[in-house]
Amino acid sequence: MKQYLNINDITNISETIQEAIELKKNPYQFKELGCNKTLVMLFFNSSLRTRLSTEKAAKNLGMEVMILNVSNTWNLEFEDGTIMNLDKAEHIKEAAKVISEYADVIAVRAFPSLLDKQKDEAELILKSFQKYATAPVVNMESSTAHPLQALTDALTIEELKKTQKPKVVLSWAPHPKALPHAVANSFVSMMKELDVDLQITHPEGYELNSEIVGNVEVSYNQEEALKNADFVYVKNWSSYQNYGKVLSTNSDWMITQEKLGKAKFMHCLPVRRNVVVEDAVLDSENSVVIQQAGNRTYAAQVVLKKILEEVRRNE
Ligand code: CP
Repeated sequence: MKQYLNINDITNISETIQEAIELKKNPYQFKELGCNKTLVMLFFNSSLRTRLSTEKAAKNLGMEVMILNVSNTWNLEFEDGTIMNLDKAEHIKEAAKVISEYADVIAVRAFPSLLDKQKDEAELILKSFQKYATAPVVNMESSTAHPLQALTDALTIEELKKTQKPKVVLSWAPHPKALPHAVANSFVSMMKELDVDLQITHPEGYELNSEIVGNVEVSYNQEEALKNADFVYVKNWSSYQNYGKVLSTNSDWMITQEKLGKAKFMHCLPVRRNVVVEDAVLDSENSVVIQQAGNRTYAAQVVLKKILEEVRRNE
């Protein structure tokens, strides 16, 4: 694997999921692969799970890890040809190449502004690292995609599914803040690659990017969509058409135990209790959010392993 910017960088998803399951059984078996290799993680936005699980994954593979919280320390210029006489101290052209002097793999987290769809979709930060860094780049959640989360979600469903083709429902839920589309986008893209019966449910006005949704069944009736679900993946996102706007915080869309029935409850976390989902669900045995978060390590580990194998091939 040369990079992991989105799930299309995985050649064979089923095999990769199985490989992650094997790594989970014996996480230290490839400890020599990352020996004398360094992962540099750059955070333009904060993180709990991605930061810790990716660091753990790298260390399981024997890598060194360096972390830079970019937004607080460092004001980078990304535009080409700018006269840099204002507040930006360094251009990405130098910065990405310099980081590549210290890193064998560079992982980047950079959220969208949710103010300018075109700019967010251009993925300026992630794509600039891809363009100017000489080390492979891993997406730790960008404006439009969270592929490490999607791989975790696929791995968790594979571990827990009881039927060959489970019914998986992605349900919008209310949230007071405007949130990105990245998790939902990558989840839909990933589920389309798997043998699942995928449905999406959200209020009118919350349609996701139609190029990502494709032919997936979409319903404005949450109750109907949730019927006979095996897995209910809950996530808030802001409006895509009315870009970045919160159109509704209707608590009728909150996930309750009654709505969930016997299905497994999934969420990428962090989650707002009794806004997105009621306590009774999160505290029940049907909630698999902790297993999901735990699996972040093995999703990151299988990606880093594949990238390190490619680095080794080219040495
Ligand atoms: N799910 C997820 O990406 O969590 P963090 O924002 O804590 O990394």
